[in-house]
Amino acid sequence: MTKKPTLTSSSGKPYPTNETSQTAGARGPLLMEDHYLMEKLAHQNRERIPERVVHAKGWGLQGKFRVTHDVTKYTRAKMFSEIGKETEMLSRWSTVAGERGAADAERDVRGFSLKFYTEEGNWDMVGNNTPVFFVRDAFKFPDFIRTQKRHPKTNMRSPEAMFDFWAGQPESVHQVTILMSDRGIPRSPAHMNGYGSHTFSMWNAAGERHWVKFHFRTHQGHEWYSDAKAAEIIGQTRESYSEELWNMVEAGNFPKWTLFIQVMTEEEAMETPFNPFDLTKVWPHGDYPLIEVGEVTMDTVPENYFQLVENAAFNPNNIVPGIGFSPDKMLQARVFSYADAHRYRIGTHYEALPANAPKNAPVNHYHKDGSMRFFTNDFGNPNAYYEPNQYDGPVADESVTEPPLRIDPEAVAARFKQEESDIDYVQPRALYAEVLNNDERDRLHKNMAGGMAPVSDSVKERWLAVLKKVHPDYEAGVRQALETGNHGDPSLPVTDDTPLEVAD
Ligand code: NDP
Ligand code: HEM
Repeated sequence: MTKKPTLTSSSGKPYPTNETSQTAGARGPLLMEDHYLMEKLAHQNRERIPERVVHAKGWGLQGKFRVTHDVTKYTRAKMFSEIGKETEMLSRWSTVAGERGAADAERDVRGFSLKFYTEEGNWDMVGNNTPVFFVRDAFKFPDFIRTQKRHPKTNMRSPEAMFDFWAGQPESVHQVTILMSDRGIPRSPAHMNGYGSHTFSMWNAAGERHWVKFHFRTHQGHEWYSDAKAAEIIGQTRESYSEELWNMVEAGNFPKWTLFIQVMTEEEAMETPFNPFDLTKVWPHGDYPLIEVGEVTMDTVPENYFQLVENAAFNPNNIVPGIGFSPDKMLQARVFSYADAHRYRIGTHYEALPANAPKNAPVNHYHKDGSMRFFTNDFGNPNAYYEPNQYDGPVADESVTEPPLRIDPEAVAARFKQEESDIDYVQPRALYAEVLNNDERDRLHKNMAGGMAPVSDSVKERWLAVLKKVHPDYEAGVRQALETGNHGDPSLPVTDDTPLEVAD
């Protein structure tokens, strides 16, 4: 039998006991000097870090990416440099609105975060399971999220707030249609696609830029739960996704996705009838076909959830040479927001933690000291702590400079409001009328009506007016389901009724 290790304090001092406090007499009060007990209680008080302000409930796996097709004409990123090349990965999928203990099978958009530990630093693809989003200007993001979280008085989720916001924000109808369609409650993360959603860029060794969209298509097929089935599942287990992923990996049935890109030239981007940097729009497959790139396989349950999944910091500004941003103003705002959130949620040196530290690229920077600076970074010469220096400290590599971006010479700095127009309804109309079949439309009507049932008449009418602009049958179908009450269970998790009466 192997000898058990000795239990110690966090400074390495052996513990005399792990169950008996030091007291004055058998019945007496505690002694202050029982620092073993103090340490134990103090650590317990510090076990939680703040949950993510959004996407708090999540599930993670580790795995790898393998290149299957040559895309070097689009990108110089070394992870794509040759067919067969593999890159280590960490994934985290999530729901958006629920807290860290929320049930898994709730109707919500799912986050789809992938970290690729490349030899040129980490590339984070922080997407969703939908190709579009509710808003297209970051100014609206905090308000949108507020409608998804709890009401300040009732402390319940508020369908009234959700539909009130969406009705005043008609470009959201594309995303809301997907949310209320079958894809709104995936059976598990393995049974859904991932999308980078934003337009990104790729640039090649010759310095040529293309705009791209990322699509991760599931090999497991799209499977989803109806509202009634989801309610039944939640009644049995709140952790259905963790269970499903755990069972798949334990059985060697590793979930896989194929990565495709859509590509648009800079010239084409000036001609599209829609703004290709508008996050409420997709690029039609017919015009911008999917180009296969490689395969993601997730084959390992992380040894420690807190260390690798809760501490994971996915950040859209983690890109590598050969991948870049686009003018999408939502993406631009995300480039600020995530590192700010991580410094608050995890701490100054969050990037040195095991989940976030590059595994396959050196880290050489001049950031100094600070709370929890537990690692050295003196490049072998303590004199090299500023730049420029003559002590062989790290220097920048101009060869990774992105190609310059041509901006419209007429561009003026202003706050451009994109007025609502039919262009916002074209794509949800195509989804409703051409992609979904009769049964899917029928379920969409009922899911939407279930979600809307508790809201006030004025909000209902304003939202129905938006649906009518998408397609008259859409409005008629939802109205009928509302009027007949033929919509099964409400599709949103906990409902309050109408807005609170507020005294003058
Ligand atoms: P296509 O017929 O080529 O594409 C339709 C796509 O719709 C499918 O490939 C599938 O995307 C997706 N889809 C199927 N069922 C659902 C659902 N319940 N919820 C959300 N998406 C679904 O036509 P277009 O490319 O011209 O697009 C038509 C409409 O399809 C768009 O306006 C958009 O609403 C929707 N769509 C388009 C996507 C795109 O990138 N072009 C991606 C997803 C949706 P997938 O193959 O990614 O599973
Ligand atoms: C998480 C901000 C839009 C996908 C987060 C977090 C913040 C944030 C602060 C928490 C980060 C953390 O603590 O680790 C924003 C802002 C947005 C925006 C300001 C708009 C301006 C989007 C969009 C997508 C998205 C459009 C998808 C296309 C995600 C995902 C996570 C996340 C997947 C969870 C990451 C993880 O798994 O740890 N967002 N977000 N967000 N966001 Fe966003």
